[in-house]
Amino acid sequence: MNAVKITEGIYCLPVNLESYQLFEGMWPMPNGISINSYVVQGEKTALIDLIEDVSGKPADFESELESIPLDPKNIDYLIINHMEPDHTSWLPVFHKKNPDIAIYLTAKAAGLLKSFCGIDNNIHIVKDGDTLDLGGGKVLSFHETPNIHWPETMMTFEQNSGILFSCDAFGSYGTLNGVYFDDQLSTQQHAFFIDEALRYYANIVASFSTFVTKGIQKLADLEIKIIAPSHGIIWRENPQAIIDSYSRFATYQNGPAEAEVTVIWSSMYGNTEKLVNNIVQGVRAEGLPVHVHRVPDEHVGTILASAWKSAGLILGMPTYEYEMFPPMAWVLDMFRRKKVWNKKVLRFGSAGWSGGAQRELNTLTEKLKWEFIEPIEWMGAPTQADLDLAMKQSQALARKVKEYCSQ
Ligand code: FEO
Repeated sequence: MNAVKITEGIYCLPVNLESYQLFEGMWPMPNGISINSYVVQGEKTALIDLIEDVSGKPADFESELESIPLDPKNIDYLIINHMEPDHTSWLPVFHKKNPDIAIYLTAKAAGLLKSFCGIDNNIHIVKDGDTLDLGGGKVLSFHETPNIHWPETMMTFEQNSGILFSCDAFGSYGTLNGVYFDDQLSTQQHAFFIDEALRYYANIVASFSTFVTKGIQKLADLEIKIIAPSHGIIWRENPQAIIDSYSRFATYQNGPAEAEVTVIWSSMYGNTEKLVNNIVQGVRAEGLPVHVHRVPDEHVGTILASAWKSAGLILGMPTYEYEMFPPMAWVLDMFRRKKVWNKKVLRFGSAGWSGGAQRELNTLTEKLKWEFIEPIEWMGAPTQADLDLAMKQSQALARKVKEYCSQ
């Protein structure tokens, strides 16, 4: 792949990770992901972020540099927006090619650069609003945006073109193959990247939603014409579309999210499963969209996106050895870690021989600001009365969600 020209002297170098790889070693990427670096050429040349040292990807990156053409030795400045290894693990190799390169980064990033890459020479610490004039009409300014996604993260803004190199913020899953800008997307592709942005957000950024909101507020003073994130499509026709999407995703944490219900269910021998159809019908009877996920068949990475967006959750799980069915416990613990807060919730499930799942669920979620309605629980197999109650209670949950979302 060749480097992609954004405007005169400014290029994107997108490198695709494929769908068989796991992001952060744990998140499935059915549609892959791009890791985008950027080159800004004035009289001097700056490289913004790098590439992960995985599966031959640095070779792709180097061939994109060559296509500009640009020799790594001739890059004057390396700007590090973010030290996570998807952007920096190849840095020690790159640094051997250009050991005197001037590196610009935040103070916290400098500490991480030393500990992750063993590099501490020719370091230039930048603070909020500092600038670097490359000559030739290219001026970079630096904007600290801590915790989007790590505490050292910053964004870089090229003042004359109005391009914001936004790092992980405004990023998405999904590889880039011949289409790089929002104005090249069909309606279907546009929806795809917004959906992939939500799943990426829920997996990677969700815990830091407060900082996303603060970061977006801070950008209000910049005249942003193009958003160039570290992952996914470049937004040049309508950068506000992805800013608005991220703003909306962040608000889901404090609620209400969308007037939708996500049903997440698991079953050992089919007794809990018997209620699922009635649960779904109950939500539909109230006119709300419903998303259904079976555990452990579906990975928590997919379920997180659906749960993050939905104001209502319905959790189906049996008791297993006096506690929650373990695959559901894993999903719910991830919800706790990712701060899936402020939901209206119903739980249903077989109590087996003793019960105990509800007790553990209550304990695990006590800090999540969830409002539960009366659960549906029975010993052994469900009766017709339990099936009827499933319909009644899921309708009640759906009504509660509607009321919550109309406030
Ligand atoms: Fe794309 Fe937080 O790294």
